[in-house]
Amino acid sequence: VVDIIFIEPDGTKRSLEVKEGLSLMEAAIANNVQGIVAECGGAGSCATCHGYIDENWMEIVGAAGLDETEMLEFVSGLSTTSRLTCQIDVNSRLNGMVVRVPETQG
Ligand code: FES
Repeated sequence: VVDIIFIEPDGTKRSLEVKEGLSLMEAAIANNVQGIVAECGGAGSCATCHGYIDENWMEIVGAAGLDETEMLEFVSGLSTTSRLTCQIDVNSRLNGMVVRVPETQG
């Protein structure tokens, strides 16, 4: 398992143990992390799974692909660390990563 820390919109810190291969979004939904909505169920077409990746992890996580970048145009509060959490699969290199959930989705 991989440790992933989500910071919910109200500042609550949630430490999850996530099975490799799940997406960050799937882990968040399974653990009822507040603020991750995931309306499209992970198809990359709703942008309600927006999260901010901790800067220290951006290099490992990498930048959004073209389709994802287009979807991110729709989020409010877009940042250079913005990603759609359904597009990131958890692997051991992400152990200890922090993901901050924005206050509003969409
Ligand atoms: S769950 Fe819809 S874009 Fe990620």
